[in-house]
Amino acid sequence: MKYSISLFTLILIISCAAPSEEFNATIVIPEVADARTAETKISLAKEWVTVAPDISDGLLETLASQITELGIEVSKKKEGSANLMLNLDASLDTESYRLQITERGVEITGGSEAGVFYAWQTLRQLLYNHLWSGESWKAVDLSDTAKYTYRGYMLDISRHFFGVEVIKSVIDQISLYKINHMHLHLSDDQGWRIEINSWPKLTATGGSTEVGGGEGGYLSQEDYKEIQRYAQERFITIVPEIDIPGHTNAALASYAELNCDDKATALYTGTEVGFSTLCAEKEITYTFLSDVFTELAEITEGPYLHIGGDESHVTSDEDYVRIVEFTLEKVIALGKTPIGWDEIANAKLDERTISQYWASSENTSLAASKKASVIISPAAHAYLDMQYDSLTPLGLHWAGYLPVKKSYNWNPEALVEQLDPEQIVGVEAPLWSETLENLEDIEYMTFPRLPGLAEIAWSTKDRRSWESYKRILERHIEWFEKKGINTYKSLE
Ligand code: ACM
Repeated sequence: MKYSISLFTLILIISCAAPSEEFNATIVIPEVADARTAETKISLAKEWVTVAPDISDGLLETLASQITELGIEVSKKKEGSANLMLNLDASLDTESYRLQITERGVEITGGSEAGVFYAWQTLRQLLYNHLWSGESWKAVDLSDTAKYTYRGYMLDISRHFFGVEVIKSVIDQISLYKINHMHLHLSDDQGWRIEINSWPKLTATGGSTEVGGGEGGYLSQEDYKEIQRYAQERFITIVPEIDIPGHTNAALASYAELNCDDKATALYTGTEVGFSTLCAEKEITYTFLSDVFTELAEITEGPYLHIGGDESHVTSDEDYVRIVEFTLEKVIALGKTPIGWDEIANAKLDERTISQYWASSENTSLAASKKASVIISPAAHAYLDMQYDSLTPLGLHWAGYLPVKKSYNWNPEALVEQLDPEQIVGVEAPLWSETLENLEDIEYMTFPRLPGLAEIAWSTKDRRSWESYKRILERHIEWFEKKGINTYKSLE
């Protein structure tokens, strides 16, 4: 009796003495819907063996590659005992999962392979917390599910060009936070960045420079397909954007015949917006739009094509509506779902279209009244190129400064009047690249704001308070540093 009391006391002392035990399951961003942590401490095996008859070898390879940096090896055998159990259960939603860590090992059940992948992202964070932040490895039982089906990140590769390797790095980084769409802004005044075989000068001429006059560049269709494959392996769908009818100077400089006066414009390397337009009265404009969106549809696996539609300040209202309606119809005829920035509300829309709220809640209400779905990405809360504060060396501040707290503390359902929450397909965090020249710049503006935006997009739980979120984010910032990600650090 005496012995058992002292053992009990000892256990109590050990379990109370460990610092920040509360972190163990709730350290995860986005916050998990239902997280139970047991007090049982267990040892972590460094060799994980799975049988996993349901899981493709491709997925297993991706999962294994994401934890080699932690010194954990994953192997597969045909039958027998395993300490990594990966299962599918079609009764769960496709992106949902259950993750249990017990003495027997790690057990994951996903509604589909996507669910298994998201469980893995949760697991990665628990591993970082144990192996890099020194917290004990404990038994957990987590069930999780996504709030929105569209959890987006946008990269502008037009103002400055970023190639395959940079884009893949970004895909790797955002996958940890269960982002499932990467919107690539592929054309703008300063550069045309996707090869279109039927209009080769778009890239030969229009891709030859960028903001500041650098050499620019473009993605060949093979590059694009490689990025798409890499993204798909991480359950990220590529959403390509060709911005029309404004933001088209790179095309207008490449082909004189696209201009109303038949004169090619000069290439542009500045950062003004709103000065270019396609010519609504010319037949060739519609041939151009058909050719470009047809080729884009042919190389795009995902369901969406983004048509831009923003800031067409030198297009008349009538011409704007004519060009946008033609393009929306073309995209639908190609079997894809069109997305456009919120100005497209001024054209004919219906439930087959998605309007992306960036500036005007009135436009977004109008689009919603026409039954369009909505992606929420308000510049004042979600634009990652907005400077953190007046001292931020990169970025812009036309929508105000965007400190980390402000990017976390907002509600996508509360910004637009007369928007039924059911019409919201999701949330996106766009990163425009007027001032960004390399991966380090991209990382600095993306981290640490992206995790908070991902939590808004994924988490079905009532949001954490800023104070508790901040303590968790500080831990993630330690991991970014360990990974060599160039992150902004002030959370004040
Ligand atoms: C935009 O920021 N012009 C969509």
